[in-house]
Amino acid sequence: MIVIRNIQELINHLSEERKQRNDLAVGLVPTMGYLHAGHVSLITRAKQTCPYVVLSIFVNPIQFGPNEDFDKYPRDEARDLQIAEQAGVDVVFLPTVEEMYPSPTKTKVSVSTLTTTLCGASRPGHFDGVTTVVSKLFHIVQPKQAFFGLKDAQQVAVINQMVVDLNMPVQIIPCPILREEDGLALSSRNVYLSAEEREQALVLSESLAAAEQLVHDGQVVQAIDLQAFVRKHIEQSPIAQIDYVEVLSYPRLEPLNELCSASDGLIIIALAVKFGKTRLIDNTIISLG
Ligand code: PAJ
Repeated sequence: MIVIRNIQELINHLSEERKQRNDLAVGLVPTMGYLHAGHVSLITRAKQTCPYVVLSIFVNPIQFGPNEDFDKYPRDEARDLQIAEQAGVDVVFLPTVEEMYPSPTKTKVSVSTLTTTLCGASRPGHFDGVTTVVSKLFHIVQPKQAFFGLKDAQQVAVINQMVVDLNMPVQIIPCPILREEDGLALSSRNVYLSAEEREQALVLSESLAAAEQLVHDGQVVQAIDLQAFVRKHIEQSPIAQIDYVEVLSYPRLEPLNELCSASDGLIIIALAVKFGKTRLIDNTIISLG
């Protein structure tokens, strides 16, 4: 495994590899590091279809709001490199902030509509930061496929839209949410949780599983009733502070009256909830077909 910190060096390296191995299909897994099994599942998925896998690790300052956890975001380069090597990554791209943004960027990639709801509503500017850095990574790496987790289902919808709108020659591969055995979705931010918060946070996956069951059993017809059910379930935890609970169509993220009116036959139940200072997100996408 090779570690590259410099953009031009990575471009040269990949160009050399492409010359030597005819038409090499490169897979890209973009991350902010502090790798866990969820990230590893994306790498494993990438290795199934791409003979060459690039993992990027970059805590992207422009996707964090002024009062968010950019400075405190967990980082452990040595551990990340060990995990990446074990997972079979070919190249780790580990740029500094100065390397990615030598001067404040005057160009931004911004996807409209899809970014005004859910996390876009509570984190203004967040998705512009994500689409801008992901565009830069796509230009640098020129992957055939890029792998993203449905843990961030809105991020997947937004990046897909960007790729379609701007004719980027990359295929986006959405990958399932990896969960702990008790249901908690894996996240780099889980390390912030105290033992009590970790225990209480189980209401998130439990509420989603219970809601999914209701839909499958045909016991709920209106989106608003499903939303109320999930809210009520989460409110059973005395320390949960709900940011949002929404039921929308997926991937268009449009509001719904009746669940069965979802445009592509898919609905998402998406939530963001704070436990102490830690904001967790989770979701489930349900096919009504
Ligand atoms: P990060 O939060 O590090 O996540 C990197 C990738 O791992 C994302 O595609 C995310 O959806 C996926 N992931 C995280 N937890 C997961 C889980 N439990 N199961 C499956 N996949 C999971 O998302 C970002 O970084 C950034 O916004 C980024 C795309 C790198 C742009 O800066």
